Amino acid sequence: MERAKSMLEARDIIAGYGAAEQILKGASLHVEAGELVTIIGPNGAGKSTFLKTIAGLVPPKGGTILLEGRDVTRMSALDRAKSGFAFVMQERNVFGALSVKDNLELAYAGPRSGFAGVKDEIIARYPVLGERRGQLARTLSGGQRQILAMAMALLTKPKIMLLDEPTAGLAPKATNELFDAILALQATGMPILMVEQHALEALRISTRGYVLVSGRDAATGAGPQLAEDPEIRRLFLGG
Ligand SMILES: Nc1ncnc2c1ncn2[C@@H]1O[C@H](COP(=O)(O)OP(=O)(O)O)[C@@H](O)[C@H]1O
Ligand SMILES: [Mg+2]
Repeated sequence: MERAKSMLEARDIIAGYGAAEQILKGASLHVEAGELVTIIGPNGAGKSTFLKTIAGLVPPKGGTILLEGRDVTRMSALDRAKSGFAFVMQERNVFGALSVKDNLELAYAGPRSGFAGVKDEIIARYPVLGERRGQLARTLSGGQRQILAMAMALLTKPKIMLLDEPTAGLAPKATNELFDAILALQATGMPILMVEQHALEALRISTRGYVLVSGRDAATGAGPQLAEDPEIRRLFLGG
């Protein structure tokens, strides 16, 4: 019997930068419809490289990437974005010198006449962006900036969202608020693949998780179950 197609599947990915030793040494993962999947792992493990390879920003030297069963491994980042990947990078994911509204307008790819309606939808979902629509993006708080970056990604009407450390540098309260926003996005049916440093908190809210160590999957399972795993707690809590 044929297995249902995953939203995203990355199989045995080998990738790195230039001639140096490969960073990803056969990493695999999959994301099913409606899932929130989190990758955790030590600094330098290759988490960002994995997301970049999936988004088409780093060409893989081996392995296969499938979006809803379609092979996108050799597709450019632009074509991948057009086929449904939205990637919110860890840094510089908004234009600081532009207003919130102009950031949204830049990200919007549909017909000009449609922007006002789409903007209203986004503001209904993220009221803070309405309150601050005229403000320069660089004056937003870290959490608000991440919301703006997520909203910009949503404007491309993606099939899946890739988030690289959305809570990096945020205080605990802002981290929790952002996790709530990510859960709310998942509740709309959007599949999400994220990398997180707040490892245990992120796993607790995730459908499934992967632990990436030295470019390979060291462990995988249901998020809350991984968060209670003594070995993983030892690695990520140091106790
Ligand atoms: N653009 C790049 N050029 C060369 N090496 C890089 C580049 N980006 C990352 N690396 C290296 O790849 C390794 C994995 O980095 P990264 O994927 O960012 O890890 P993580 O996100 O898990 O912290 C690190 O050793 C890092 O120095
Ligand atoms: Mg990283």
